[in-house]
Amino acid sequence: MLLNNQFNKIMTYKKAVHLFLVAFIIAANACTVQKSGSTKKNADLLNIINKNFTDAASQYKVMMKNISADKFPKTYHPKTDKFETSNSGWWCSGFYPGTLLYLYEQTKDAALNDEALRILKPLEKEQFNKGTHDLGFMMFCSFGNANRIDPKPAYKDILINSAKSLSTRFNPKVGCIKSWNSKENDFIVIVDNMMNLELLFWATRVTGDSSFYNIAITHANTTIKNHYRPDHSSYHVLNYNPETGVVQQKKTAQGAADESAWARGQAWGFYGFVVMFRETKDKKYLDMATSIAGFLLNHPNLPADKIPYWDFNAPGIPNALRDASAASIIASALLELSGYVDKQKAKEYISNAETMIRSLSADQYKAAPGTNGGFILMHGVGHMPAGTEVDTPLTYGDYYFVEAMKRYQEL
Ligand code: GLY
Repeated sequence: MLLNNQFNKIMTYKKAVHLFLVAFIIAANACTVQKSGSTKKNADLLNIINKNFTDAASQYKVMMKNISADKFPKTYHPKTDKFETSNSGWWCSGFYPGTLLYLYEQTKDAALNDEALRILKPLEKEQFNKGTHDLGFMMFCSFGNANRIDPKPAYKDILINSAKSLSTRFNPKVGCIKSWNSKENDFIVIVDNMMNLELLFWATRVTGDSSFYNIAITHANTTIKNHYRPDHSSYHVLNYNPETGVVQQKKTAQGAADESAWARGQAWGFYGFVVMFRETKDKKYLDMATSIAGFLLNHPNLPADKIPYWDFNAPGIPNALRDASAASIIASALLELSGYVDKQKAKEYISNAETMIRSLSADQYKAAPGTNGGFILMHGVGHMPAGTEVDTPLTYGDYYFVEAMKRYQEL
């Protein structure tokens, strides 16, 4: 009996030790899963994204009905129920086909592809447009995506011609591509122009002609030198002397003030330097991108939902309008940048991008089905000082939102 009791006690003790060890191993494993999963995708957000793609495809079918012949969507005015369109020369003409193509890739809905291919036709002629710096936006977001999905010699020719047209605006004395045409003694460059360089890198890869590549890096280096402030915010508009390259003015056009940080301008520059690092692997561009990310993500005026005010120094904060388009662009760039940095930084960038995508997916920003003229997102700010496209949907807000979600899916 005593022996039996002792035996039972020893067995109970052994069981307890065993159970403790099992529990310890499970807990340790759970910790490991959590640790190594810190930069992993969030299943719940992936579900939200899947639903967003389905909803966005339905929205773009609504939008299609608002567009006639060779017109391109510009914006929609909710108060007056007015859908505004543009012709192919407007800087945003590439975003509609680009968004349709991204959504077609996600849904395999042929109607989206058909509409994208239809609208590419009236856009084709812009390959010879030498009067704008926006050819990267117009042609690479459209024909670049078309060629990526279904490569064709015709697309390739259009893109090469576009890169040639864009290059005609480069001035070696200034070291930049001219953004806006102005008076004879002015040479205007806006920070947005960083977004047009991706087309030039593509052109060098395809043609072997390094002049496109050299223009892109010269433009980016001049931008680092003159456009950026010590805190890594940027001016919007610089006016150079076209003969000497001397900076004549630093100002804004779409921001709150010359010395303010216009949100979308910060987003364009940020995205542009991420592309610069992707294309060159030059660490100085990575340093620029991470420094700009630092400015954006640590800014005291970045709200908790991470949707920036239209200007980081907008009057009236916290009651100033938000710009959903800036959030879309920043989220997309953060997700690409997360692939070029250490694990801790990657975690920070992904987590911020997740918050941005979640916020944009909520009713506050994502339009209810059938509303908003068919645009996906509400509450963008196009040009506050001019009073145009203020608190309305924007084609580029939609395009970079869809791109950000695609990038998250593909992380
Ligand atoms: N590139 C003009 C804008 O962002 O509004």
